[in-house]
Amino acid sequence: MSQKKEVQLSVRNLCVDYITSNGDVRAVNSISFDIGKGEVFGLAGESGCGKSTVAFSVCRLHKPPAFISGGEIVFNGKDILEFDDEQLRQYRWKESAMVFQSAMNSLNPVLTMEEQFCDVLLAHTDMTRQECVKRAGQLLEIVDIHPSRLTDYPHQFSGGMRQRLVIAIALALNAKLIIMDEPTTALDVVVQREILQKIYQLKEEFGFSILFITHDISLMVEFCDRIGIMYAGELAEVSPAKNILTRPNHPYTEGLGNAFPPLHGEKKRLVGIPGTPLNLFEVPVGCRFQARCPYVKDVCRQEYCTLTEIAPGEFSSCHLHNDGMIDVKSLEPKPVQA
Ligand SMILES: Nc1ncnc2c1ncn2[C@@H]1O[C@H](COP(=O)(O)OP(=O)(O)OP(=O)(O)O)[C@@H](O)[C@H]1O
Ligand SMILES: [Mg+2]
Repeated sequence: MSQKKEVQLSVRNLCVDYITSNGDVRAVNSISFDIGKGEVFGLAGESGCGKSTVAFSVCRLHKPPAFISGGEIVFNGKDILEFDDEQLRQYRWKESAMVFQSAMNSLNPVLTMEEQFCDVLLAHTDMTRQECVKRAGQLLEIVDIHPSRLTDYPHQFSGGMRQRLVIAIALALNAKLIIMDEPTTALDVVVQREILQKIYQLKEEFGFSILFITHDISLMVEFCDRIGIMYAGELAEVSPAKNILTRPNHPYTEGLGNAFPPLHGEKKRLVGIPGTPLNLFEVPVGCRFQARCPYVKDVCRQEYCTLTEIAPGEFSSCHLHNDGMIDVKSLEPKPVQA
């Protein structure tokens, strides 16, 4: 699926279920995408669409009530879903590392940063304590924090610094894939931009791939090479980032684009997507977006539409594309019941 030759991660037909008191719910339904080496791949979509569930799967960090009920996650040619405990230990941190939604939750408040860096390095390498401290100092410098701050506790850093500390830990063992789930959400826009620029600069320097998750689509378009748009546990579209706002291939993508202010150019009137996200306990026959789609046709209520390559490197799961490329912007929208 990737336009780049070398694939770092290949997710195929991934299904993830949660067992709840109301029964099983499928939070991720048959998702497939590739991430190329050195590529930044974004996942965007409304809250609850399954972005974090995909991220946790790629790190195999799920715990009950979640379980992976199908598919493959192939990293460097090996399916990580088949890994035993020792293979997983090697995979985590060394091959893939995760930056979680909230930095404060991923740092231990009662340990100094030196202890936290050493914990990771001692557990996964043969380095001595002294070598670990030296490496920790280098990692702090990489994210523009003075090594003298190693002996500080997390609460002694600002929110932006804490997020950079988490990024530094993720870089500790030169992981080839870094999964970033809302890495800058809790920060003001200036710090957010600084951190993203830093991440991009580090990616260029060290060559890792990034799975980047946010529901801020404008930010994502600037930062990513390709973007997957998720709706109700499925991929609605996968396209080059530059096309997502200007030439959406799915009505949901178009709706998301209309709901965000443009970063450049003229101001425009923002229009929300009518209706509410799909209740995963009541998945309809046909397209999951049908109740909110301004272009809905009979076929959308009758037939399921799989993610299909509609042009080189552009994938859409919309019946509007069944007969070839259709520009959703050229169609006449119909009013949708909110
Ligand atoms: N522990 C759980 N038990 C039951 N259902 C869960 C659990 N965790 C997540 N879900 C459900 O799985 C779906 C996907 O959740 P997920 O956290 O992956 O969404 P998300 O896209 O990351 O949302 P956000 O943008 O708010 O972070 C949601 O419908 C959510 O209710
Ligand atoms: Mg999430």
